[in-house]
Amino acid sequence: MSKQAPVLNKERRFPTNMKCAHELLLMAKNGTKGNSKGDRYAMPAYNVTTYQGIDAAIEAAETLGGSCLLAFSNSALKHFGKGDAIRGLEFVHEYVKLAARYSSVPIATHLDHGDYIGADGRKVVQKAVETLTSVMADNSTDHAAKKPTELAQNIEATREVVDMAHPLGISVEGELGVLAGVEDEDTQSEFSTYTDPEELKTFLKDTGVLMLAPTIGTMHGPNKGKPGDVVKLNIELANECLAIADAMNPDILFVAHGASTLYPNVVDFACENLSGLGKLEEEINTWKNFVGTDWDQITGLIKNGFVKINTDTENRQTYLAALIGALNNSASKIDIRHYEKVTYKALVQSYIQKYIMAGNVGVWHGPKIDVKNFKFDLNA
Ligand code: 13P
Repeated sequence: MSKQAPVLNKERRFPTNMKCAHELLLMAKNGTKGNSKGDRYAMPAYNVTTYQGIDAAIEAAETLGGSCLLAFSNSALKHFGKGDAIRGLEFVHEYVKLAARYSSVPIATHLDHGDYIGADGRKVVQKAVETLTSVMADNSTDHAAKKPTELAQNIEATREVVDMAHPLGISVEGELGVLAGVEDEDTQSEFSTYTDPEELKTFLKDTGVLMLAPTIGTMHGPNKGKPGDVVKLNIELANECLAIADAMNPDILFVAHGASTLYPNVVDFACENLSGLGKLEEEINTWKNFVGTDWDQITGLIKNGFVKINTDTENRQTYLAALIGALNNSASKIDIRHYEKVTYKALVQSYIQKYIMAGNVGVWHGPKIDVKNFKFDLNA
């Protein structure tokens, strides 16, 4: 690939309070909060699948004065669009644009795992470039053939997205290596491969992406390892990749997929309430056996330069635990709003918790709560 990839157009203006994800993430990498520079922090990218999820993620960011990054997977977009991901993009685009107008913090919107290899996926990525502020072009897998793509094919497809998106001010995240695990029907893989540092330089140079998801051992979904085990990430490989990218362009930002740590208090709450509902031991054990990513290793990655941490599963669990609790407490309350309020409050707490852990606090204004004494409590 000879011609230089187009640079990201940083002059593009989005609707009120909407920002390109790369702009907010670069602030996190540089430790920028207001006019001051401090320690590096990270932005959790929350996968949202419902309007309630969108509202809760924004409320959590506003509560803390942090930046907000909403991620939409293909299957989430199909859900928003009643089976049609393109229509889903139109719905969320209008909804978030309106929500942003009333927000006290900026919001970025991002397509998660956009697939530019498959024909349907291409249309979704093209529409996402028109409607969101950032896209992921995950061309590491040929989903139809169920195998990893060749480097040249990944580069070619990703570069096409960069050519289309960068002049419009839309950031692009590429993936090199295949991430394991099952998140939902459109985001899963039976196999996985580590990022090859030798290939990385070529990939970054030829695609021009400014956001990269390397595969270093994180996984999607609630079963990231054997119960009781701490899942070991390949930190050495992560650092090697970071050094290569930083030497090429310090504006290249790293993304950790599969960053859900899962919260023991949420699991305990769900198990207690499942017992209350007379559920089988087997179902309760499924909850007990969920394994998340080890937060100590993620904080190490953040310190070294990973600034986007993708988080979905733990928030789904929080939602479900809260719903189970609400049913255990009052299964005869015939009012949708009652259950919506319970799950909404739980989701806001779940989002606040990870924002605090990631340091995404006080970026745009001071927090509205006492952050040090915040307690994530589903009984509250
Ligand atoms: P989790 O399954 O760990 O939440 O990861 C989500 C993710 O990486 C989405 O891209």
